[in-house]
Amino acid sequence: RTVYVNGEYLPEDQAKISVFDRGFLFADGVYEVTSVLDGKLIDFAGHAARLQRSLSELEMASPVTSEELLAIHKELVARNELTEGLVYLQVTRGAADRDFLYPDEDTAPTIVLFTQAKPGLADAPAAKRGIKVISIPDRRWGRRDIKTVQLLYPSMGKMMAKAAGADDAWMVEDGAVTEGTSNNAYIVKGNTIITRHLGEEILHGITRAAVLRMAAESQMKVEERSFTMEEAMDADEAFVTSASTFVMPVVEIDGAQIGTGAPGKVAARLREIYLDESL
Ligand code: PDD
Repeated sequence: RTVYVNGEYLPEDQAKISVFDRGFLFADGVYEVTSVLDGKLIDFAGHAARLQRSLSELEMASPVTSEELLAIHKELVARNELTEGLVYLQVTRGAADRDFLYPDEDTAPTIVLFTQAKPGLADAPAAKRGIKVISIPDRRWGRRDIKTVQLLYPSMGKMMAKAAGADDAWMVEDGAVTEGTSNNAYIVKGNTIITRHLGEEILHGITRAAVLRMAAESQMKVEERSFTMEEAMDADEAFVTSASTFVMPVVEIDGAQIGTGAPGKVAARLREIYLDESL
């Protein structure tokens, strides 16, 4: 694989990052994941805009403009002959002596990109079956709207789900579902799609924004508000969205079947619309 590090395209085994990198020492970095279908980047503008926002919330300088970033994404997709998969991008505050205070403003940020091939991403068998989730308390920090690389708790959540024989975990705070470990969470009751409102408690999903726009254009009813686990267990359908799963039906929550136990109509329709419009 060819990866991109600080202005250079290199074979992955020649790419190097300092042991003093603040991404490594403090999780002082942000990231984006953009999917690639048919060799095309999906929703790149949204991911680029969110990256700039994450950087500015952390007072981090952007090492590249959104235009440069697009060119790097395209070059990496081409060099790796990626037709279906993901592009991962990470920017950290750079390497500096270990200090809790941010280093001097002239410290060069670190920027890394790599691709991950995922053949069959659009046609994932899980989308036909649906996934199982468990609920866990949300023990992340309070600025989940910033896409930082501080992913240990979501990683623990995935392990808890695996140990319970499930695929993912929905996180619950103050009695309401925030989101999945790496996706936004939705339920459908009657003909209404319900998903948590935006705020500092969840990541503002790029796929979420696209799916809600498509739902509105298809005259589906959407409510952006908190929902409880009780409501979720009693829903007709459930699903999640992310750049790496698009729209993924949820068929079981905490061991209880949702709706008929098969992927719901609304989730299936939204997945179809999303993939159609993206391609
Ligand atoms: N995760 N919520 C969380 C906590 C996430 O980590 C993600 C994305 C989302 C969905 O956002 P988007 O639609 O912009 O991908 C919601 C990525 C895919 C990841 O960490 O791999």
